[in-house]
Amino acid sequence: MTHLAPSILAADFSNLRDDIKKVEDAGVKYMHLDVMDGHFVPNISFGLPVIKSLRAHIKGIMDVHLMVTNPDHYIKEYTNAGADIITVHYEACIHLNRTIELIKTNGAKAAVAINPATPVSVLVDIIDYLDMVLVMSVNPGFGGQKFISNTLKKIRQVKELAPNILVEVDGGITLMNVKEITQAGANLIVAGSSVFEEGRSQENVKNFYHIFER
Ligand code: DX5
Ligand code: ZN
Repeated sequence: MTHLAPSILAADFSNLRDDIKKVEDAGVKYMHLDVMDGHFVPNISFGLPVIKSLRAHIKGIMDVHLMVTNPDHYIKEYTNAGADIITVHYEACIHLNRTIELIKTNGAKAAVAINPATPVSVLVDIIDYLDMVLVMSVNPGFGGQKFISNTLKKIRQVKELAPNILVEVDGGITLMNVKEITQAGANLIVAGSSVFEEGRSQENVKNFYHIFER
């Protein structure tokens, strides 16, 4: 079963609670929360206080994407705040096994993200310890960027490496290109702009699920 994980980066920050309720009412089971530190990526989004206060308003799975350097420093706090999945970047971790272990001992599911220019082969020795792989289909830092099509090949490579693992894809996904992304093997689709654009989030969620079910 393929699921949608709307990224609240594209929601109305003055109205997050309602924006989340709308997409959950439309059937969403995952919420994707993009934490950016202005260091690992050239942008700052939101952090722990926002995630803590949203926990009470998110019924589904809280999928926290840490685009930060030194993620180990924050893992305990984010799991205490209620993160169900924590994704760290391969490019940000010097001791990746240790970081993954830390996520798991704190009770969350562990995932590793790879940037568009990072090959899937870097995952070979860590994949058995992971619950999910996040294949970035844009360079992280901003919503609304264009999907990098080389990603499709990488999704297939992750599937070959670990046929049963959850494969999340993030960046530039729209109702127009999502079918080829799921056909390549993605089963968790992150979408920000194409969900929250123009106040049509419920309709957009339903349209994504129609495509998944076809
Ligand atoms: C990019 C973030 C994404 C982003 C996706 O750095 O990780 O989750 O919000 O936004 P869209 O769907 O607009 O590309
Ligand atoms: Zn993300």
